Amino acid sequence: MNLELRSPENERAGIHVPDGVANLLTPFNGTICSQDGDEYPVKNNIIDLLGEEPGFTSLASYSNHWKLTAAIYEDIWRKRSLSLLSGEDFPIEKEHELLIEWTAPKEDGLYLDLGCSTALYGRALKAAQKKANIVALDFSSQMLEEARLKAEADETDMVFLRADGRELPFFSKTFDGIVMGGTLNELSEEIKVLYEARRVIKENGVFFVMHLIKSDAWYGRLLQESIALGGIKFWSKDESNKLFEQAGFKITEQIVRGIVCFTKLTPA
Ligand SMILES: C[S@@+](CC[C@H](N)C(=O)[O-])C[C@H]1O[C@@H](n2cnc3c(N)ncnc32)[C@H](O)[C@@H]1O
Repeated sequence: MNLELRSPENERAGIHVPDGVANLLTPFNGTICSQDGDEYPVKNNIIDLLGEEPGFTSLASYSNHWKLTAAIYEDIWRKRSLSLLSGEDFPIEKEHELLIEWTAPKEDGLYLDLGCSTALYGRALKAAQKKANIVALDFSSQMLEEARLKAEADETDMVFLRADGRELPFFSKTFDGIVMGGTLNELSEEIKVLYEARRVIKENGVFFVMHLIKSDAWYGRLLQESIALGGIKFWSKDESNKLFEQAGFKITEQIVRGIVCFTKLTPA
């Protein structure tokens, strides 16, 4: 993988990521360094550009930094959640089919799993296209450690990066595709993250977003209002489409099932 990060210290300086970082069967520990000399640790193949824990703005954001959430998230919640939230039988395989159909990962293409948690989408892209290159980014070390375990168990190579979606450490037009499952609802500054996604995606790139929208039912809205107190946000489909357009994307495909919304965005 030919990956160059943009230094958080100097946006003109690049940081070359050695190929070995993505090879999860061989633990990689050490540091990587920009042309300017600023250094960042790599621990067990996870590159850490953030250092200190970020300030937590909500319970939702805080809980993503618990080891327990990371350990149970995918098997107990994520793989079953869409059937519950869409009100129909929605196995994870069906979600993956849509992800692959809309993203169409290319040989040697570079894809970003943004707010990856356990990198379910990143692994699905790699399973569909072995020669695609994946960067899985989250600001939670606990989620990244769990993601690394799952990727190694699947013998899937990818780069794990601890960074903040509000300031993506990449140069403009880096990615052939970006995938973001469920993360939009949890972002504290969603428009900043969407602008950053627009900056780092190539002009012919695809941005696959799965997020939850406002419920039509009064009891659903009541529940969402209480969940919102924990820092999870909900928009109507039209409100979220306005956000996407404001950030410079156009809606190419969209499917809504219950409160689950899948959107294929391309640069406007
Ligand atoms: C709902 S989970 C993502 C689920 C995952 N994409 C999936 O499809 O299973 C949201 C994730 O976004 C991460 N996150 C939230 N805000 C972030 C930010 N500003 N930068 C990086 N990661 C962020 C959280 O740590 C959490 O792991």
